[in-house]
Amino acid sequence: TRRTMAPRRWLLLLFLAAGVLQPLAQPDSRGFISIDCGLAEEASYVDDTTTLAYVSDSGFTDAGTNYNISAEYLGFSRRGHNLRSFPDGVRNCYTLRSLVSGLKYLIRASFLYGNYDGLNRPPASFDLHIGVNFWKTVNISTWGADQGNTAVVEAIVVVPDDLLQVCLVNTGGGTPFISSLDLRPLKRTFYPQATAEQGLVMLARFNAAPVNKTGTIRYPDDPHDRLWYPWFDATIWAEISTTERVYGVGDDLFEVPWKVMQTAIVTRNASENIWFGWESLDAEPRDDDPSRPGYIAILHFAELQLLNASNGELRQFYINLNDELAYPTGFTPEHLISNAIYDTKPSRHSGYNLSINATANSTLPPILNAVEMYYVIPTTNLGTDSQDAPAAMAIKAKYGVRKNWMGDPCFPRTMAWDGLNCSYAAANPPRITSINLSSSGLNSDISSSFAHLKALQYLDLSNNNLTGSIPDALSQLPSLTVIDLSGNQLNGSIPSGLLKRIQDGSLDLRHGNNPNLCTDGNSCQLAAKRKSKLAIYVAVPVLVIMVIVSVALLVFFLRRRNQQPGSMKNRRAVKPQNEEAQILTRIHHKNLVSMIGYCKDGEYMALVYEYMAQGTLREHIAGMNTNYEADTMEDVYHGGRDLKTHLNLHKRHIMDTEQA
Ligand SMILES: *[C@@H]1O[C@H](CO)[C@@H](O)[C@H](O)[C@H]1NC(C)=O
Ligand SMILES: *[C@@H]1O[C@H](CO)[C@@H](O)[C@H](O)[C@H]1NC(C)=O
Ligand SMILES: *[C@@H]1O[C@H](CO)[C@@H](O)[C@H](O)[C@H]1NC(C)=O
Ligand SMILES: *[C@@H]1O[C@H](CO)[C@@H](O)[C@H](O)[C@H]1NC(C)=O
Ligand SMILES: *[C@@H]1O[C@H](CO)[C@@H](O)[C@H](O)[C@H]1NC(C)=O
Ligand SMILES: *[C@@H]1O[C@H](CO)[C@@H](O)[C@H](O)[C@H]1NC(C)=O
Ligand SMILES: *[C@@H]1O[C@H](CO)[C@@H](O)[C@H](O)[C@H]1NC(C)=O
Ligand SMILES: *[C@@H]1O[C@H](CO)[C@@H](O)[C@H](O)[C@H]1NC(C)=O
Ligand SMILES: *[C@@H]1O[C@H](CO)[C@@H](O)[C@H](O)[C@H]1NC(C)=O
Ligand SMILES: *[C@@H]1O[C@H](CO)[C@@H](O)[C@H](O)[C@H]1NC(C)=O
Ligand SMILES: *[C@@H]1O[C@H](CO)[C@@H](O)[C@H](O)[C@H]1NC(C)=O
Ligand SMILES: *[C@@H]1O[C@H](CO)[C@@H](O)[C@H](O)[C@H]1NC(C)=O
Repeated sequence: TRRTMAPRRWLLLLFLAAGVLQPLAQPDSRGFISIDCGLAEEASYVDDTTTLAYVSDSGFTDAGTNYNISAEYLGFSRRGHNLRSFPDGVRNCYTLRSLVSGLKYLIRASFLYGNYDGLNRPPASFDLHIGVNFWKTVNISTWGADQGNTAVVEAIVVVPDDLLQVCLVNTGGGTPFISSLDLRPLKRTFYPQATAEQGLVMLARFNAAPVNKTGTIRYPDDPHDRLWYPWFDATIWAEISTTERVYGVGDDLFEVPWKVMQTAIVTRNASENIWFGWESLDAEPRDDDPSRPGYIAILHFAELQLLNASNGELRQFYINLNDELAYPTGFTPEHLISNAIYDTKPSRHSGYNLSINATANSTLPPILNAVEMYYVIPTTNLGTDSQDAPAAMAIKAKYGVRKNWMGDPCFPRTMAWDGLNCSYAAANPPRITSINLSSSGLNSDISSSFAHLKALQYLDLSNNNLTGSIPDALSQLPSLTVIDLSGNQLNGSIPSGLLKRIQDGSLDLRHGNNPNLCTDGNSCQLAAKRKSKLAIYVAVPVLVIMVIVSVALLVFFLRRRNQQPGSMKNRRAVKPQNEEAQILTRIHHKNLVSMIGYCKDGEYMALVYEYMAQGTLREHIAGMNTNYEADTMEDVYHGGRDLKTHLNLHKRHIMDTEQA
């Protein structure tokens, strides 16, 4: 029946798709995007330590030049071996697509100069933006990233749209470059300090007293692929560890990997403090940001020793910031349960001293398993209107516009796309009000995306090579007053909607110098009518001939089938030869029809598959519910076309998905 057939139809489609639906430039099955910048176009490899597949950045940006670093700096991480540098343009961006709008993501970029340009002069600094918001100034020399070290910059942000642009901005401090770019989805509840208005930039993420003193813990130990750097100092702290698994507290907001929580530092005796501090990076957000950055600390604790409470054993401590209680009561970590004490709001001081000291009742010294520190960045800048921005990007993609068309079309004002003017009303996203793509070498037809720019007032596409007809949808743009299409190869006539706007004086349409454009209303209409009449003269006889031929073929086919009932069987040489058929014969599943083989006899093709009650495979696939009682083992397809067409259509669908 229909109910049971439907899943079968889906399964058929599914297995045809299997193995080919992993387009590049898209998140993988975990939602990860892992980009090795500067890798040869289309290239990819699986990273040994993480088992993650890293892909070339060619599908994510259309600017910049690939380089390899100097051999003397080639190090352990393959990501550092090559990079992309951006000598041209102020702002150059990577576009990450197919994200989940409103979800929290970890974004990480890395930089290793390695004298890639042979100049031995790393850029002094350049800026990174996430979307339309400032992320961080990268100062390569601070990190020693010119010497073979890698600078790593990381943030946790809520992504407002289903695509995100990460931009490198040349601030006059040298040519920006990038070695790798990672994106990892987090759970919505994670890091509650990261909101739509505020992102977290990582200052430090430490795994205290790791077993491997040189190993950074990341994926697969951390399913979210955070980097947990080793942190220890045998001259100050003692170390304790367990081999037992540490579980997260219910409602765990951080899910620190248990491999990180299994080790901890403690003080040498109960009367000492664990403490660490840092100076405020007042120069960090740029000079034009007057406010001091706000910091957030997250301390992770789990008891790793089995304490004997009846023997009076207790580990209990206070957490202090600059000698004031940061957490109101003494805290006792639970045995093998990971818990965290964290700032819910950023604190703003010139210097920070976080200390952990035992309470008077505590018999054991204070402990710390892991710590994270972040500072917050505002993410409140508004990008271009959510309809205008994708339309502008589609126009850019269609015509391959280069200019400075990178990042957000209107924001910031100083980097707005050349040839675009925008309106900036307070508290509203910028709108695109005019586009001047005059003399820009545009080919093909007029993009339908122009008609999505609802605030457009002025559209200049003059002196290009635009072909096809003028879309009437442009007449629906309420504010549009000027369209200049002169000097193109447009044809057809001026659509009625636009004619109306011209006649009522609300639109100035310039269309001179389009040799094939029909601009005289009456003669065009006549020409159009003549054409449609001609079309009928041609179409009717063609249709009649087609019907006659079809009927003839049908009759021929039915007679042939009736006259020679056994002939197909008798002459069958079942030999699946082509690849599609071989794949089909290999697939066995209780919900799938097993194909045994096929044969081709002139223009006829037979598919041979298991016995199937109540009709043919074609009818089952089409979802028809017939009472056809045939126990036939074969279904004859004309010239084998049905299967082929199906596969080709499907292939095309996959290619479209890949191109998208
Ligand atoms: C970088 O090196 C690889 C192999 O080591 C080579 O295939 C590639 O072409 C080089 N790329 C550039 C931009 O020189
Ligand atoms: C980069 O860092 C170095 C070393 O800390 C410092 O001397 C230099 O002024 C910084 N450059 C910029 C542009 O911030
Ligand atoms: C420690 O980590 C480093 C770097 O990841 C790795 O090369 C090394 O094999 C590790 N050592 C042990 C004993 O696991
Ligand atoms: C414990 O710390 C105190 C104060 O720092 C010190 O006087 C004492 O010697 C330490 N005890 C041990 C056993 O290290
Ligand atoms: C805990 O301490 C009590 C009192 O000293 C002792 O009797 C008991 O055996 C201890 N329990 C364990 C599990 O060590
Ligand atoms: C712990 O440290 C705080 C801040 O330095 C201090 O006020 C408090 O007295 C200390 N507590 C104990 C029990 O030493
Ligand atoms: C930080 O605070 C602890 C505990 O009060 C103290 O021992 C330490 O000297 C302080 N460090 C700095 C740099 O002030
Ligand atoms: C210390 O222990 C005593 C006795 O059990 C208790 O009354 C007191 O509240 C405890 N102090 C703290 C800070 O927990
Ligand atoms: C549009 O661009 C063309 C070519 O760049 C320029 O000549 C023209 O002045 C521009 N029009 C306006 C209105 O800015
Ligand atoms: C955009 O604005 C600039 C400055 O106001 C003006 O010169 C230019 O003509 C405008 N361009 C268009 C296409 O309206
Ligand atoms: C249009 O295309 C032709 C041939 O590709 C080229 O010769 C011509 O310069 C182009 N015209 C404009 C205005 O771009
Ligand atoms: C207009 O040109 C396009 C291709 O440039 C062509 O496909 C179309 O048939 C032409 N239309 C008319 C009405 O001539």
